[in-house]
Amino acid sequence: MFLLVLSLLVSGSQASHFLGTMMTYYPVETQTNGSVSVILRYKQNFVECSQSVTWNCEGNCGSWTRMLPLTKVEEVSGEWCQTEGVITHQLPNNTGFQTKLDGGLWIDNILNRIVYWRAVAAVELRNRSDIGKPNTSPQTTILPALRVPVNCPRTINLLAFDPDGDEVKCRYGNAADSECNPCNPPPVLNVSSSCSLTFSSSVSNTSSELRYAVQLVVEDFPRQTITLTETGGSQEVKTTSDAISKIPLQFALKVIPEVPSCAEGSYVARFLPPTPDNRAQKFIQVNKVLEINIRAEATHSTVTGLLFSGPHNVSKSSPGSGSFTLSWTPTAAESGQSHPICFVVETSYNYNTYHSELRCVAVTVGNYYVVALRGRISTSLSLENDYDALVKQIKDELTRRGLHTGMNVRLHRMG
Ligand SMILES: *[C@@H]1O[C@H](CO)[C@@H](O)[C@H](O)[C@H]1NC(C)=O
Ligand SMILES: *[C@@H]1O[C@H](CO)[C@@H](O)[C@H](O)[C@H]1NC(C)=O
Ligand SMILES: *[C@@H]1O[C@H](CO)[C@@H](O)[C@H](O)[C@H]1NC(C)=O
Ligand SMILES: *[C@@H]1O[C@H](CO)[C@@H](O)[C@H](O)[C@H]1NC(C)=O
Ligand SMILES: *[C@@H]1O[C@H](CO)[C@@H](O)[C@H](O)[C@H]1NC(C)=O
Ligand SMILES: *[C@@H]1O[C@H](CO)[C@@H](O)[C@H](O)[C@H]1NC(C)=O
Repeated sequence: MFLLVLSLLVSGSQASHFLGTMMTYYPVETQTNGSVSVILRYKQNFVECSQSVTWNCEGNCGSWTRMLPLTKVEEVSGEWCQTEGVITHQLPNNTGFQTKLDGGLWIDNILNRIVYWRAVAAVELRNRSDIGKPNTSPQTTILPALRVPVNCPRTINLLAFDPDGDEVKCRYGNAADSECNPCNPPPVLNVSSSCSLTFSSSVSNTSSELRYAVQLVVEDFPRQTITLTETGGSQEVKTTSDAISKIPLQFALKVIPEVPSCAEGSYVARFLPPTPDNRAQKFIQVNKVLEINIRAEATHSTVTGLLFSGPHNVSKSSPGSGSFTLSWTPTAAESGQSHPICFVVETSYNYNTYHSELRCVAVTVGNYYVVALRGRISTSLSLENDYDALVKQIKDELTRRGLHTGMNVRLHRMG
């Protein structure tokens, strides 16, 4: 009887259809009675949009509310679908928790043979001594699958930033190190702590498409020693070599048959202006439309589409051949937060589909605390194009006037 039940369970989860996941968190508020709430935002990648699994929370999980049921972000019909969900946990105190995704099976990844998936997010919510509030996790996203021709070495520079200003590091793995299996990256992939993945074209030629499962852990490290204080008063010290929180980032790397030329703009598309640079920062007010304009060309293939990963209600349009626009209207729920949007351009030649390099931008959503500032800073920089440089100029000026160097400066246009 026992055996029968087991074999039923196994056959029920036999389909190999998982292409990775991602989870990040933002704490929202701490009440005077010590209760804390936190928003978990996650992506799930499966072959079909209807497929999903439930995160299992362990620890001080409190009560939770589903703010957004799994909603489609982007899809390549028959290959993959990325969905996004949002859950808020209301906790009685600021003791953190872990949430896990466990199961089978990963989509066939003949190149490194990972069968069962496991992803863990470690949510730290104790009060940080440096910022006087709970930690926010690193923020990142990725498409479910990236295609790389077997003969073309490529570096994939992931966007992983931290709203608290912590140092973000990536490493290969899928969980607590003692539980991860296997813990080594596939042999053709080098993962740097700065979140760049280098694909070296050392696999021999292939006539079919082969996959790797890529499983990363992204962590935030304080830039100076800090103390975390629990609601009850107990404290823990975190040095610059101790991770504060931990999030999973998993996707598939598809190695495809060789391409006659690896040059960008030949078979693989090349981005043209005004496409934003990788890791560029954009700024948008709540309820205003952010438009990201993207242009790409390829001389030996046809530009066939744009694929993105980001908040579920980013919409895409194509005003002309090789031109694309991603639009997003953040709501008050995203106020004060920063979210990444990543994209690739697809080209097609002789029944093969190629992906351009991955580009990502970080979008900061404006909120309304306004510092009255007397004085004038004259600049030729613009809010839309030079956000980082402008913020730095203003910070330098405020620091000269005696304000704390650790302040957060966010800008928005008046009137
Ligand atoms: C926080 O609440 C949980 C109950 O969910 C309890 O087990 C834990 O001891 C509490 N922690 C503190 C520091 O009070
Ligand atoms: C603390 O206050 C919040 C908001 O007033 C309330 O929802 C929550 O139930 C309270 N929690 C505890 C542990 O009393
Ligand atoms: C967190 O710490 C700061 C000072 O470090 C303090 O002002 C603030 O009240 C604390 N918040 C909570 C919820 O304990
Ligand atoms: C990964 O990086 C290390 C050190 O930089 C180097 O020795 C190794 O050959 C690299 N592996 C691949 C597959 O590129
Ligand atoms: C590699 O494989 C492709 C597809 O099967 C084939 O067209 C190409 O000639 C092969 N290249 C080499 C160097 O063997
Ligand atoms: C985007 O999603 C949020 C949360 O689901 C929703 O409140 C908002 O209305 C959506 N915005 C648009 C423009 O669809």
